[in-house]
Amino acid sequence: MIHRSVLVGSALLLATAALAASPIADRQAVMKSFGGATKPLAAMLKGEKPFSLDDVKKSLATYAEGNAKFVTLFPKGSEKGENTEASPKIWSDAAGFKAANEKFKTEVAAAQASIKDEASFKATIPALLKNCGACHEAYRVKD
Ligand code: HEC
Repeated sequence: MIHRSVLVGSALLLATAALAASPIADRQAVMKSFGGATKPLAAMLKGEKPFSLDDVKKSLATYAEGNAKFVTLFPKGSEKGENTEASPKIWSDAAGFKAANEKFKTEVAAAQASIKDEASFKATIPALLKNCGACHEAYRVKD
């Protein structure tokens, strides 16, 4: 009897700890914010939304903030569960994953410095957005 309640108790504790700090949910939230930030940029590129430098700056700020957090959200033990799409390669090729994050970070900073108008926006953003698909192809699995 005592045994059983101790086991149930520690299982509850573990479950609570997982809820309190879930790097998987946090990194998926960062990526959802990237999805939201990319929509207006894609619409502007297609001419479905008028160019707005303010909106471009907001999206780039979302990328910059999210990127800084994102790399810290892959601790050991978060490889599985919660419908994560993180590829095992993130851990087996940690240097490559870090480099992909750094590349995106560098290009976001460059875009923040160089985009001043619609022409510079159109010259910069398509290449920047290639980082999304490139990293997903290498480090995200879809099932
Ligand atoms: C350096 C790597 C990297 C870059 C750059 C990156 N992603 Fe991701 N993305 C991932 C990984 C890894 C996942 C899976 C995370 C998980 O499920 O644990 C993911 C998941 C996602 C998801 C699904 C989130 C969910 O669970 O609902 C969206 C949407 C997304 N990314 C959009 C973007 C967009 C848009 C960009 C570019 C602006 C981008 N990503 C750039 C690595 C990256």
